[in-house]
Amino acid sequence: KPYIVIMAGGIGSRFWPYSRNKKPKQFLDILGTGRTLLQMTYDRFEGITDPDRFLIVTNKHYFDLVKEQLPDVDESHILTEPLRRNTANCIAYASYKIAQKDKDAKIIVTPADHLILREANFLQKINLALHASNDENRLITIGIRPNRPETGYGYIQYISNENGDAKKVKTFTEKPNIKLAKAFVESGEFVWNSGMFVWKVESIIKAFEKYMPEVAEAFEEGEEYYNTDKESEFIVKAYSQVKNISIDYGIMEKSNEVYVILGDFGWSDLGSWSGLHEIRSKDENNNVIEANALIYDSKSCFVKASPDKLVVVQGLENYLISDSDNVLLICELDAEKKFREFVSDAKTKG
Ligand code: GDD
Ligand code: MG
Repeated sequence: KPYIVIMAGGIGSRFWPYSRNKKPKQFLDILGTGRTLLQMTYDRFEGITDPDRFLIVTNKHYFDLVKEQLPDVDESHILTEPLRRNTANCIAYASYKIAQKDKDAKIIVTPADHLILREANFLQKINLALHASNDENRLITIGIRPNRPETGYGYIQYISNENGDAKKVKTFTEKPNIKLAKAFVESGEFVWNSGMFVWKVESIIKAFEKYMPEVAEAFEEGEEYYNTDKESEFIVKAYSQVKNISIDYGIMEKSNEVYVILGDFGWSDLGSWSGLHEIRSKDENNNVIEANALIYDSKSCFVKASPDKLVVVQGLENYLISDSDNVLLICELDAEKKFREFVSDAKTKG
């Protein structure tokens, strides 16, 4: 049975102010289903492995949140990071820890904050990926047909005349500029990287050794400490030595062992308020209302506030109104490019 590594240490700044440093989007019930995105991720894989094969990698500040939201996962399987050092290091930590116990392990790596609508279909693709990862050193990713020139994703070009479920990847370009993204989408030769990966632990460790030797060195030194009470002390030291870099830039762009399995299972990375607006159910004027609200002459708005405040809105189109704790944000619904600025400027206002 495979190990499931859930990456749950991001800060989800594009859902600010609802998603905050102290509670980022993976810990929120962002779809209004009663389960948080992290819980939905766990549920999705629960059927194909045992609870003791999950590893949740997160920042030390979120340990209690993970523990509370995933009571079936043993504390020792919540891996805490002292610093945010991005997905390459998150994956390296989990991989070396797993390898210390089980050299033949297979790993499925998944973000904690994605939505998948057709789960049975998704699990079918995961099975194909597990199968394809048997071949020597292969790194399998799941690709999604693009429908817009999104610059926040990785783009994969694959060799299309290849037989078999896993197609050999020709190029992998992480977060291209808009010009390049448009050309990629128009060519019809590219798929998005979904950010979900499947591999044997030995394959990914070989890739670290080859493409990120400093990361390999930092984490392989821990062999005698993993799964002992010295682990966290060792990890603090290892994290102080490594650079902040994602697996996409660090390995996927460089390796020629990457294969892609195409998926079509209603995937969304829930990257923005406007993206979330698209998939949520709406009133007759195309508004998503998650608040105690009175809405007049308004359409295509997203209103999100706690029910103890009445929100009254008039004459707005395509606006976001999001009221959380001590922040009220009113902006265009598709202003995602501005969020970094909002969040950093807001810090100066206390
Ligand atoms: N533990 C841990 N530590 N988790 C992290 C860290 C970290 O330092 N940084 C990010 N994560 C988690 C996030 O919570 C998220 O679940 C996942 O890792 C991916 O990180 P993002 O920061 O959301 O990456 P991205 O969306 O910009 O890009 C990735 O995903 C795209 C698809 O959504 C890339 O893999 C792209 O190529 C891909 O297209
Ligand atoms: Mg993401």
